[in-house]
Amino acid sequence: MTAPTSRRAFLATSAASAVAATAALPGAYAAAGDEVLRVGLVGCGDRGTGAAKQALRADPKVKLVAMCDAFMDRLQGSLGNLRNIKDIAGKIDVAPDRCFDGFDGYKKLLASGVDVVLLTTPPGFRPLHLRAAVEAGKHVFCEKPVAVDVPGVKSVIESAKLAKQKGTGLCSGYCWRYHQPKRETVKRIHGGDIGDVHAIHCTYLTGPIWDRGTADPFATMEYQMRNWYYFTWLSGDFIVEQHCHNFDKANWVLKGAVPVAATGVGGRQSRVQERFGNVYDHFACTLEFPGGVKLFSACRQMASCSSDVNDHVYGTKGQAQLMRHTVSPYGGKAWEYDGEAKDMYQVEHDELFASVRAGKPINDGEAAAHSSALAIFAREAAYSGKRLTWKEFFASDKSLAPKAFAWGPLPVAPVPIPGVYKV
Ligand SMILES: NC(=O)c1ccc[n+]([C@@H]2O[C@H](COP(=O)([O-])OP(=O)(O)OC[C@H]3O[C@@H](n4cnc5c(N)ncnc54)[C@H](O)[C@@H]3O)[C@@H](O)[C@H]2O)c1
Repeated sequence: MTAPTSRRAFLATSAASAVAATAALPGAYAAAGDEVLRVGLVGCGDRGTGAAKQALRADPKVKLVAMCDAFMDRLQGSLGNLRNIKDIAGKIDVAPDRCFDGFDGYKKLLASGVDVVLLTTPPGFRPLHLRAAVEAGKHVFCEKPVAVDVPGVKSVIESAKLAKQKGTGLCSGYCWRYHQPKRETVKRIHGGDIGDVHAIHCTYLTGPIWDRGTADPFATMEYQMRNWYYFTWLSGDFIVEQHCHNFDKANWVLKGAVPVAATGVGGRQSRVQERFGNVYDHFACTLEFPGGVKLFSACRQMASCSSDVNDHVYGTKGQAQLMRHTVSPYGGKAWEYDGEAKDMYQVEHDELFASVRAGKPINDGEAAAHSSALAIFAREAAYSGKRLTWKEFFASDKSLAPKAFAWGPLPVAPVPIPGVYKV
């Protein structure tokens, strides 16, 4: 075993080999653990700007050195915002020659000497970007959802395995897993406080989100990229893009259980204009798990309706509510979390950077892929109007991505019609 020859070599070195290198060369790992970690941001929107801020606050020796966005105006807007934040301004060193745009910008960013990459584009690009980042030996913060179709899920599972082999970090943006009140609640469920879980009912009933699109033509790459939320190839539809948080919490409670089948209904009643692409605005789906366990999910995004975001977990001996952090055994004393609740978005980065420094990088990749897959499974059941088995679903090789990423005309896929749509 030879010692790492450079800081870059060290940072790309696996936890396992880093530990081995330390043993071979006393002090090498400890010294390298003090190095500045150079961060690159891919996808400079709202979340990316937030994630960069959190990364810069996570560790004293972190610098933001490179940025990439499909659109230079988005990148410059984010950079300007970050430079205005007093406590992190001194950690920003993004020279103009490390600002990259276009579809290949991520490749240039990965080659620009970064150690940690924040992947915060629309999820349609995540599998591609994640694979490239992991292959390049970078530690990754990777927003949710991590894919929009089955080939994407499979690619992320492979990337997660590769990151494990390389010993590089892969922290996912399924942020509720980094929220202490949820951790305590799930710990109690896993500890048997409500007996065996037999059903989960999760809701994501909210109002609409941003609407950036007024100017047609809609059937262009630029329109769809700037209004990505409304196009399934980019967002996965809102059941995948937003409700995936509930599927992730269910996946966490059910310890990664693989469902047997899914059924669902859905459609669009309020977002019917052409500028809203091809996504639905409501879904209600049921996932069946082995042993008769069921996950009932409902999500809606419509104005002037009641909002409710929660996860009700039903066990043989009681109930729990994840968003209220309560555990109520039948006939027993109810528990409610009353400790501190740090900002989960900050905790994600604190734990990622600490794990990298410690040589034991976090790897959330496979769990994140499965959570995203559950949401895609529910979506496909509703789109198709069929009772879909996991086996059929997971055999799908249908990629939603266009054949090529290029500016210019891009037809919009039709709104899925149950009974007509093919998985
Ligand atoms: N964990 C959470 O609570 C949370 C909250 C908000 C958003 N998110 C996730 O973060 C991601 C981004 O959401 P957002 O709200 O920041 O959206 P946004 O539109 O504000 O930002 C996305 C940015 O990515 C850029 N982009 C698109 N394609 C690109 C490509 N191929 N290469 C480089 N840049 C590209 C866009 O131009 C845009 O600037 C989504 O996956 C979303 O689900 C997570």
